[in-house]
Amino acid sequence: MAVKIIMGLQYGDEGKGRASHFEARNAKIVVRATGGANAGHTVVVNGKKYVMHILPSAIIRDDVLCVISHGVVFDLELGYKEIMAMRNEAGATITPENFLISERAHITLPHHRQLDRLYEFIKEDKVGTTMKGVGPTYEEKMRRTNIRMCDLFLDDQTLLHKIDENLKVYNILANNVNEVIEKDKLDEEKFPAYSADDELEFCLNFAEYLKPHITNTQQIIENAIDNDEDIIIEGAQSYYLDIDGPSYPMVTSSHPNASGTAEGAGIGPTLIDEVIGVAKAYTSRVGNGPFVTEQPAHIENDAVIPYEPKEAFVGDKIREAGHEYGSTTKRPRRCGWLDLVMLKTAVKPNGLTGLCINHMDTIGKLFDEIQVCTAYEYEGRIIDYVPVDFEKCKPIYTTLKGGWDTDGITEYDDLPENAKAYIEKIEDYTGVSVKYIGVGADDSRTIVIE
Ligand code: IMP
Repeated sequence: MAVKIIMGLQYGDEGKGRASHFEARNAKIVVRATGGANAGHTVVVNGKKYVMHILPSAIIRDDVLCVISHGVVFDLELGYKEIMAMRNEAGATITPENFLISERAHITLPHHRQLDRLYEFIKEDKVGTTMKGVGPTYEEKMRRTNIRMCDLFLDDQTLLHKIDENLKVYNILANNVNEVIEKDKLDEEKFPAYSADDELEFCLNFAEYLKPHITNTQQIIENAIDNDEDIIIEGAQSYYLDIDGPSYPMVTSSHPNASGTAEGAGIGPTLIDEVIGVAKAYTSRVGNGPFVTEQPAHIENDAVIPYEPKEAFVGDKIREAGHEYGSTTKRPRRCGWLDLVMLKTAVKPNGLTGLCINHMDTIGKLFDEIQVCTAYEYEGRIIDYVPVDFEKCKPIYTTLKGGWDTDGITEYDDLPENAKAYIEKIEDYTGVSVKYIGVGADDSRTIVIE
């Protein structure tokens, strides 16, 4: 049996959902352990595309138990809507037998989404969050006023009191910011005041449906470990969006690194057998923050899609060929070359045991010569690690041969030599073996290296 973490090594959107759904073919349980509805995990099966934000990607398999563990912040409304969408669009059978939510998972309420908006509004250096209220939910969890899934079982008066405690800070802030908006005649929608009754009603709207799914998932995970069953922990976001990572403050509000992901699932470090780091054969980033290998593109961060670049820069080419638009926010992603320094820096803090490299088909077809970043110029020195002031680094590239086509190839040995050399470069530089290669959007286009 194996407990395997699937986590991101870049800035999110590496294809963790796809890898986790693929790995779930052998697993008993798939656990979503961190983050909230900010994630966008895309899976393509038999040509049909599914996008999950809060549910584990294996929810479209009927033979796996999907668990939302205590590390996740769960938006009742978005979660409920996604369950309905997966039932209707994917024909997923979602019952308390195959989908459970930890009683200790925290709840994202409507005022958390407004707080997300409010923080971005008052800040000059905007993070570019997904506006799903994820950061504010974690913040109120740390403030020890947030409500959890187990609270949905309380009587209405007790729950009302807890929500009231949770709401106080938001209403004070909203009031103050609204005064500024009014006084300065700003062209900004005001922040609504919420009463505890409003948010109680919000909770009650979804509580009856969700209650049969809410349980002590810790015990279920522990039983699976005792019974030697395969468990996949589906990470969300990535190492470089970790709250303690070098990209701070342009990061998410949780610990999507391997330890944080294990903690969020309720599984101690010695019980983790494998940590698979997922990266694309290039790099993309949505939102603001350092991106050393970013390539020029015509498109602005907030442009409307579909976008047709008149004269394609490298950034445009990668974005269009890789369909690099946010699956949660639809924002066009910033794109650039593969940064091996980032990957190598992530190896030890996450205890990586293997890599999954996606979009090998995309990059191979696009360019005859591909750059990969193999060092940084930083404060007059050449370094091969990511420093705290990441944004000061300039990339030093090695040029590799591209021009490969992976169509129809299902075995590593049959890959074109240039594609193999690219994979070998990643392995040599990071010291970690590549175990999976994505050569197409569909789940079936995964090459497994035994
Ligand atoms: P938040 O997680 O919504 O607070 O957003 C914080 C930063 O993380 C922003 O730059 C987001 O674009 C980024 N982010 C959060 N979740 C994801 C994800 O699943 N993929 C890519 N970027 C993400």
